[in-house]
Amino acid sequence: RVLRWAWRLTWMTSLGLAGVLAYSIYDLRHPVDQIEPDPSKKTLVVLGTGWGSVSLLKKLDTENYNVIVVSPRNYFLFTPLLPSCTTGLIEHRSIMEPVRNILRQKKANVKFYEAEATKIDYERRVVLINDDSEVKGDISSTEVPFDMLVIGVGAENATFGIKGVREHSCFLKEVDDAQEIRKRIMDCVETAMFKDQTEDEIKRLLHMVVVGGGPTGVEFAGELQDFFNEDLKKWIPEIKDNFHVTLVEALPNVLPMFSKQLIDYTESTFKEEEITIRTKTMVKNVTDKFIEAEVTNPDGSKTLETIPYGLLVWATGNAVRPVVRDLMNQIPAQKNSRRGLAVNEYLVVNGTENIWAVGDCAITNYAPTAQVASQEGAFLARLFNTMAKTQTIEAKLQNLSDEQSVAKSEEERNQVLDEIRERQKQLRRVKQIGPFQYSHQGSLAYIGKERAVADISWLSGNIASGGTLTYLFWRSAYLSMCFSTRNRVLVAVDWIKARLFGRDVSRE
Ligand code: FAD
Ligand code: NAI
Repeated sequence: RVLRWAWRLTWMTSLGLAGVLAYSIYDLRHPVDQIEPDPSKKTLVVLGTGWGSVSLLKKLDTENYNVIVVSPRNYFLFTPLLPSCTTGLIEHRSIMEPVRNILRQKKANVKFYEAEATKIDYERRVVLINDDSEVKGDISSTEVPFDMLVIGVGAENATFGIKGVREHSCFLKEVDDAQEIRKRIMDCVETAMFKDQTEDEIKRLLHMVVVGGGPTGVEFAGELQDFFNEDLKKWIPEIKDNFHVTLVEALPNVLPMFSKQLIDYTESTFKEEEITIRTKTMVKNVTDKFIEAEVTNPDGSKTLETIPYGLLVWATGNAVRPVVRDLMNQIPAQKNSRRGLAVNEYLVVNGTENIWAVGDCAITNYAPTAQVASQEGAFLARLFNTMAKTQTIEAKLQNLSDEQSVAKSEEERNQVLDEIRERQKQLRRVKQIGPFQYSHQGSLAYIGKERAVADISWLSGNIASGGTLTYLFWRSAYLSMCFSTRNRVLVAVDWIKARLFGRDVSRE
């Protein structure tokens, strides 16, 4: 009997879940009409469609402002799974969410311009925007005036001015980068297999070098080695002895933000996987076929080494975008900032009024991560919703005090007075929004061979764990964090597809 009940319960739960899924899909596919923007309200311009800006837009009551979004990317990208797109484990569209879908779900209409902000003119309170896409109309650059501005343009790739990096290496920040890497991996493999290729050239072409031992470099190296072990060497066994992944890092160890125990675990897993880690090796120059690196020897002496490569992926962190640098130059209070816009505890850009910054372009006490950016975006949404509510209540209070002065009877006056007290209480409650406080949930990184490392905040302590169970946790955590049900379904299907049929090794 217990079994029968368990069976029924499973069925009912499955049916319930299927119902919820069906309803959420129906809801998404049938958006209701939106309120048109009210020109008397303030214009809030949001730059970017990344973690910070989209998290703000998700929680913002758009009926309170005329909201305008400007970004060269008309989609949100779930960056934590981007390294998996470089090998075709996940298809890039599975981790993209069209910004039009996101904005269409809002109560009031939001304008979106697919363009790059080229300059923020603080004096004139306008943003200059430029359509950088292939198709251009008669007008491809213009100005957008703002009353309030949120800068969420992220960061660009740091190259530290090292010669040859931009020309010869691939970055790993955007969808195009992941597609380029995927194409180049296969190009290197097929070129190495070209008739009469010399032994040295085969070795060079199959040497995949990753520069930067932060989480981006480590995750990519792990994914690439998985690709080789699980697919490439099965389909093209000739490359077996020459395909090699090397991770180059200037510091004495990789993943500096993780605990010593997890760094050691990562390094030993890489050893098992046969990924070479070259620490204390700083790249100084890049040419089309090799990198030149300064190696610090155990006795402290330095030697210059030339390392040939077929594919070079450059993952050495973030640099400030030109539009942000330009704004910093306009504001005296930003004179001493180097790594981005200095903001106060409410994320207001220091030295400005009505300009806020979120995510990688803002300098706070926290690391530039998706976790920080999305919490900052959600904080700003709360702040703006509160500001709008405050204004509504203050206007109402003004009306009530006018009513009170013209009240005809004592009873009427008392009634108005009661309402005023109630509204004042409401105003105090609403105004109680404290400064931004980040709550760290932990750090997670995939290291290949179906293993991950995690430094998780748990109650008031930290749990450091690595291995296959952590990998299952990593997968379920990232699946649940995907932007939409659609993304979750697509990512899960990609994982199943790769498990059943392997990754697709065709070069597009
Ligand atoms: P972004 O998400 O980069 O968004 C910036 C937006 O601004 C984009 O829409 C861009 O098109 C737009 N933009 C750029 N220039 C302009 C302009 N001039 N005008 C208007 N718009 C502009 N963090 C984690 O916490 N966990 C992870 O697992 C993780 N994995 C990562 C994996 C990879 C491969 C990478 C590259 C990063 C990863 N991160 C992770 C870091 C995380 O992605 C960033 O910290 C996060 O994206 C920052 O959010 P953001 O909104 O500041 O910028
Ligand atoms: P990073 O800044 O974390 O690491 C870059 C690494 O490159 C550093 O260790 C640095 O010493 C090294 N480096 C710099 N110049 C070098 C040179 N010339 N030669 C050799 N090595 C050099 O950058 P990353 O990995 O791109 O990450 C950027 C941000 O995104 C970080 O805040 C990170 O935490 C976050 N992120 C988080 C992930 C996660 O939580 N799983 C995944 C990817 C990124």
